[in-house]
Amino acid sequence: MNERIVIITGSNSGIGKAAAKRFAAEGYRVIIACRDIERSKKAHREVIEATNSKNVDLMQLDVASFESIRNFCTGYREHYSKLDVLIHNAAYFNHGEKEYQLSPDNIEITFATNTFGPFLMTYLLKDSLKQSDDPRILTVSTTNIKHFFDPKRELDIDDLHGDNKDGKPYNVYKRYGDSKMALLMLTFKMAEEFKGDAIKVNAVMVPNIRQERSSLRKFKSKFYRYIATVQNLFAWPPERMAETYFHICASDVFRNVTGKLININNKIMQRTEIPPGKGGIPLLKELMRFDTYPRYVENKEIIAKVWQVSRAETNL
Ligand SMILES: NC(=O)c1ccc[n+]([C@@H]2O[C@H](COP(=O)([O-])OP(=O)(O)OC[C@H]3O[C@@H](n4cnc5c(N)ncnc54)[C@H](OP(=O)(O)O)[C@@H]3O)[C@@H](O)[C@H]2O)c1
Repeated sequence: MNERIVIITGSNSGIGKAAAKRFAAEGYRVIIACRDIERSKKAHREVIEATNSKNVDLMQLDVASFESIRNFCTGYREHYSKLDVLIHNAAYFNHGEKEYQLSPDNIEITFATNTFGPFLMTYLLKDSLKQSDDPRILTVSTTNIKHFFDPKRELDIDDLHGDNKDGKPYNVYKRYGDSKMALLMLTFKMAEEFKGDAIKVNAVMVPNIRQERSSLRKFKSKFYRYIATVQNLFAWPPERMAETYFHICASDVFRNVTGKLININNKIMQRTEIPPGKGGIPLLKELMRFDTYPRYVENKEIIAKVWQVSRAETNL
């Protein structure tokens, strides 16, 4: 009766799948939330076989589509009386993509998947989270946001509908960093908003983690596929990152922690900035560190804009 339930988006591969195994092995009911049910059946079986758990459920969810999110959340609320842990693990990052892509809601695909999808889903599941005695939300960040240590870097959330107002070529790497910085800002803002409901909202910084071959095959560019294959040789296994997801979402240590960015070693990271006028080595040093992230995330004007745009795009 006291079963704890976790939803992990994009858990048909990589870190998400490893996390599904980790939570299932600990007796959690795990909801594998994936966009392609047929393709995800293999991962579903794999999680069940690896853990001997009978409590692993597969549900369809396309995080880039608001309709799919609404259907998922309605279905979830009909079947489950509460939600203990929500992990926004799914993300879009197609290395080498040069074409501007739109989501089913006509929103730039990186922002639709990585920012607005998790935002909408969180609000639609808030009442289920409130039924838990220890509700926790985890969003997934990336070292890419460290580029915001560069004082010249700015988050661009204006060109969301393909208008290409500034005429610049589409840069999926920048979009990914911008969408994940926006998600981090929303994470901290939601942590504040949800304090009254005792819902904890944190983010985890993911370093270089080994990717499955099936994920590498999705890359648009052969060149980046090659780079990622080499990077894989030096990467941590997904199980290592899954351990951190589990620790943040299940351990007593993080029971009362909210509004933090946490690294792979379970350490709360600190906001900092490069002294004005200093680039080069100080910037490089910050890029290499595991315990700091850019103070840009506190930029009140940008936070207000990200919040307002997220609400407008999702009709919340
Ligand atoms: N691996 C790294 O080095 C690294 C570094 C920094 C951050 N991260 C972050 O870690 C998280 C997990 O990444 P990973 O390395 O485990 O990569 P992965 O194996 O490629 O996992 C990404 C998952 O997201 C799912 N996904 C993408 N778009 C979706 C959508 N619209 N709806 C539902 N699911 C969707 C994918 O499903 P499909 O199979 O259907 O595509 C896949 O299951 C991501 O948030 C990523 O940004 C990873």
